[in-house]
Amino acid sequence: MSIVFDRAVDYYDQTRALPEWRHRAIIDALVRETGITQDSRVLEIGIGTGRIGISIAEHVRRLFGVDLSVEMMNKLRLKLANTNLKIDIAQANARHLPFASNTFDVVYAVHVYHLVENWRNAIRDAQRVLKPGGKFVVSFHKRDPHSPNTLLRRRMRELANEYGVDTRRPGAQSEEEIYAEILKWDAAPRIVQTSVWQETENVSEILEEIDRQIFSETWMIPRAVMDQIKPRLCKWAQEKFGDPAPPLQTRYDSRWLIAAKA
Ligand SMILES: C[S@@+](CC[C@H](N)C(=O)[O-])C[C@H]1O[C@@H](n2cnc3c(N)ncnc32)[C@H](O)[C@@H]1O
Repeated sequence: MSIVFDRAVDYYDQTRALPEWRHRAIIDALVRETGITQDSRVLEIGIGTGRIGISIAEHVRRLFGVDLSVEMMNKLRLKLANTNLKIDIAQANARHLPFASNTFDVVYAVHVYHLVENWRNAIRDAQRVLKPGGKFVVSFHKRDPHSPNTLLRRRMRELANEYGVDTRRPGAQSEEEIYAEILKWDAAPRIVQTSVWQETENVSEILEEIDRQIFSETWMIPRAVMDQIKPRLCKWAQEKFGDPAPPLQTRYDSRWLIAAKA
């Protein structure tokens, strides 16, 4: 089973765009910490619409990218048409990368392994295609565990469970699991913090995003169940945060986990 991102193609870029300074911080840290040069062979797993890949492609002569979703990659192709950037894109499952062993200097993935069934095999395949000494990089993203967004999503999952819906996505259930898997082949991966920021969260906007099923966390919930959950979640939110809820400040941080192949 896989989560098909084709459904998100029309709104993915608008809803996942990062402020320029955070975007730059993420790209600069990846390039700096892995020592990417124009000649490096670099692969992005789950490249999607190229939200990250397009900026990495500015630093290498030729970037490689794979994704399951043809629709997402078509969007990337359109963006590339007006540039001199070179990205070789292929439809492939992260578990079966269509490359020879020991091919890449850097392999990276941003928000992907929570979606990949048998994700441990996918991480093994990423390691396989890396050259010895090559770097494997995964994005980690932490949201304040007490933020309205975290609490509302948790309550949404609890309510969906009551209707018999298993909301878990098919891949890794936590960053800790991914970290533990990587420890099996690099005993001392590095964690590089790229940005820390405060965001103002608005409860009514989060409720609307949940109802519109913008994020993959909501995609396991059938529409009919979401329609049943919605009034209960709104009532819970009113009791928890007030009515109307004041805007609330939340702390986020984003990091790269960087492992090296022996
Ligand atoms: C949350 S999006 C991230 C896209 C891009 N990395 C970014 O940061 O904007 C996850 C991407 O992973 C892709 N994906 C999900 N499961 C996959 C798999 N098993 N193999 C390859 N790509 C996969 C989806 O199609 C989607 O484009």
